[in-house]
Amino acid sequence: MCGIVGYIGPKNAQEIIINGLKRLEYRGYDSAGVAILNGTLQVRKQKGKVNELADTLKHKTLNGQVGIGHTRWATHGFPNDTNAHPHVNAADDFALVHNGIIENYQALRARLQGRGYEFKTQTDTEALVHLIDDVRKSTGLSLEKAISQALTQVVGTYGIAVVSANDPDMLIAARKGSPLILGVREEENEYFISSDASAVVEHTRRVVYLNDGELIVVRRDGFEVKNIDDVTLQKEIHELEWDLEQIEKEGYPHFMLKEIVEQPESLANCMRGRISSEDNAIVLGGLIDVLDELRNANRIIICACGTSWHAGLVGEYLIEEFARIPVEVEYASEFRYRDPILNKGDVVLVISQSGETADTLAAVREAKRKDIPVYGICNVVGSTIARETDAGVYLHAGPEIGVASTKAFTAQVLVLTMIALKMAEGRTMSNEELRENLRALEELPEKVQEVLKLNDQIREMSEVFRYATNFLYLGRGYNFPVALEGALKLKEISYIHAEGYPAAEMKHGPIALIDRQMPVIFIALKDRTYGKVVTNIEEVVARHGVVIAITDSDNDELDDLCEYVIRIPAISEFLSPILAVLPLQFLAYHIAVLRGCDVDQPRNLAKSVTVE
Ligand code: G6P
Repeated sequence: MCGIVGYIGPKNAQEIIINGLKRLEYRGYDSAGVAILNGTLQVRKQKGKVNELADTLKHKTLNGQVGIGHTRWATHGFPNDTNAHPHVNAADDFALVHNGIIENYQALRARLQGRGYEFKTQTDTEALVHLIDDVRKSTGLSLEKAISQALTQVVGTYGIAVVSANDPDMLIAARKGSPLILGVREEENEYFISSDASAVVEHTRRVVYLNDGELIVVRRDGFEVKNIDDVTLQKEIHELEWDLEQIEKEGYPHFMLKEIVEQPESLANCMRGRISSEDNAIVLGGLIDVLDELRNANRIIICACGTSWHAGLVGEYLIEEFARIPVEVEYASEFRYRDPILNKGDVVLVISQSGETADTLAAVREAKRKDIPVYGICNVVGSTIARETDAGVYLHAGPEIGVASTKAFTAQVLVLTMIALKMAEGRTMSNEELRENLRALEELPEKVQEVLKLNDQIREMSEVFRYATNFLYLGRGYNFPVALEGALKLKEISYIHAEGYPAAEMKHGPIALIDRQMPVIFIALKDRTYGKVVTNIEEVVARHGVVIAITDSDNDELDDLCEYVIRIPAISEFLSPILAVLPLQFLAYHIAVLRGCDVDQPRNLAKSVTVE
């Protein structure tokens, strides 16, 4: 999704902004641009990658110490040079970059056209630029005040940054529904604006989070944050947890691969200080104050999108099995608009790696509007969802840069497991059972390490399947969501069509697709449903389907039946999704690499979807 970087300080702004934009590439985008002040406003923007923009700038460096930059993920209008940000007003004296969507842009556009404004782009953003210009001209207000006033007329979401040739020692930014932070380095008189901490962390770890409805004016000697009513606010400076190494590839060809193999560590970090089989204890600090509410809930509604939604489905199985509390799992985008029936005693649990997904955030607000407690499971510390939920648990999985979520998924499932066990502790689960389950959790990182050894086998296998055009992923029980997640991984990064299904449901439709051309992946672990899954495998084989099975390391029963067998260590059923998903992550990764796909930045996708 779109990214914003802004700089004011003593250094060359172009270099800092271009580097910052490169750090934001992982979010997904299709054009990039910068505006740098140097007496006048110098703007360069073009379709394509940040590197291509950097090449253009090599021929003619834009000097100046104040500027803004943007990576655009097209919503309104094609990804081309004209629609790329920044956008400038007609007099060419201020430039603006924008994340989010201005929903009333057509009305604004018509009104401004009536007032003589000429539109050059198809974007919603251009309406905001002319609106600010119009307010400034018709009221004689300063640029800052004109921005504030114009933003009150905007319906929709925005994170914006603005520079003005008339006031070269100033950077203005504002947000509503689209994240923005200020990186602070007062000792050097320099400040950084960004939509994402990863563009700031190489310069400073001291940041101020902007909230919705806040506007910031940054100058070399300091900054001032105001709310919509023009009241100055005292903002706290936070320390970022992540450092530079964590957002670099460290020798791996792709972030996705790095993040897959990091999982023993990310899972250990996720559990660190939270569980102990010796003390038979689980401590989830972020939920301590709301534990009774959670344990006494009548119903839990989990809301999320994409991979996080799949983790939520595993959560449903976990919480219902252990805590015996009914759970519903909803797509956040559906929940937010269907006036969900929420009653006293319900608890909403949202899951979001980025903590910025617009639909999930809207679900948080919908629950709050209905006075229902809402807790979050997020990876990004200080993210909007983390701040707006009443309580929650961080993943502590470290930054996830690859667009296809891997280590965040396993950490989400792990957090949900710990929550389910905590809810069951002393009620629906005996001390002995709890201890046994905690032991299984403690062994998890080691078993994950074991599964990572399958990398070579799966790379070889991928050679065979790289030309397939359709895949079917099947699993049951805890591993039905894993089938969905495996299929999602493949389609996201290799662009091969893939579907996940509950294994038994296959005979109600997908069975019609089975032939020699379509690989069928079964998660066939020796759990409660194993016998049934084998029957489903037989049904596929009987129709000449090509089966790849993921099963337990000591199980050779499937060798004759299946074309390929992938073996993973035996593990308690409730933890099996965390192991079973790993070969599927590898498979998607290798097939995508073999097909020459851009694994970390797949076409059309965004890491953090901050628009509806
Ligand atoms: C995007 C990403 C997915 C992710 C989903 C939800 O679609 O491409 O990988 O699962 O958003 O993101 P979240 O940050 O809320 O978990």
